[in-house]
Amino acid sequence: MLSVDKVVIQTIVDNYIDVFEPSTDAIKRISPGELKEPLIAGHGLSFLIEIIRGNQTKKILMDTSHSSNALLHNLRNLGHELDDIDNVFLSHGHPDHYGGLLGFLNSRNIETPILMHPEGQFPRYIVTPGGVRGPFLFEREKIEEAGGLIVEAKNQVSLDIGVATTGEIERTTDFEKPWIGPKIVKDNVFQDDYFMDEQALVLNLKDRGLIILVGCSHPGIVNIIEHAQKVTGVKEVYGIIGGLHLTVAKDEVIEKTIDAFKEKNPSIIIPAHCTGFRAMKKISEEIPEQFFVNCVGTKIFL
Ligand SMILES: [Fe+2]
Ligand SMILES: [Fe+2]
Repeated sequence: MLSVDKVVIQTIVDNYIDVFEPSTDAIKRISPGELKEPLIAGHGLSFLIEIIRGNQTKKILMDTSHSSNALLHNLRNLGHELDDIDNVFLSHGHPDHYGGLLGFLNSRNIETPILMHPEGQFPRYIVTPGGVRGPFLFEREKIEEAGGLIVEAKNQVSLDIGVATTGEIERTTDFEKPWIGPKIVKDNVFQDDYFMDEQALVLNLKDRGLIILVGCSHPGIVNIIEHAQKVTGVKEVYGIIGGLHLTVAKDEVIEKTIDAFKEKNPSIIIPAHCTGFRAMKKISEEIPEQFFVNCVGTKIFL
């Protein structure tokens, strides 16, 4: 895989914000009073990823959070020009990741390539103790009318600057089992959702290794890391950033996940979104040197 010289990743929307979280050389936080208006946090995720290779740069919006209210408010307050973004990548077909897409497209003046797995457009439901919720619908026609150019792929797609989608994640671990509750309508059948649509975004940072950006990690974060290593041919893992979906995981699964992190030994782990308090606490205790809290507005310079 091509290597990139630098990457700057800013969290545009995430579940959490703390304006007193300290900055480091590589991780800059928005400090109190720095912006005209406070940023909006909420259940969802969106990263703006700026990739630099030689004299080329590319800006990719990975996921669009739950609503365009939060997404557009935060993008504008953080000083980003909407038309400067080159591509959108959707990690999977859940509304807390594509909910802001339509509003984003309607606020731009140019067409937007949207990279995604075709099953990310299928109707989704969730079975909760309070009943069945849904359908959650990806409104393809409206998205295309608003200037979205949907690029569907089940396999790995590499962009020329040196960033790639992982393609469908191969399941290899024995402890990362599907979460019971989510449903999908596939081939006109209402069925369990195994999240075959979820992909990560991966880049190979020069002399350091892979940076793996994940949406919800429904296929299991260790499966995702191993798959990313396999499809890129790069063994070194430098950073893992995004939602790890361990909120409802058993303690044993969290422990095995942390054991795998220790073995992969990335320099940074920034769990976000759906990682959950118990897992965050345990990661921060067991690998404190690598762990960083994520906040809306956090900007990582690598
Ligand atoms: Fe999510
Ligand atoms: Fe999800």
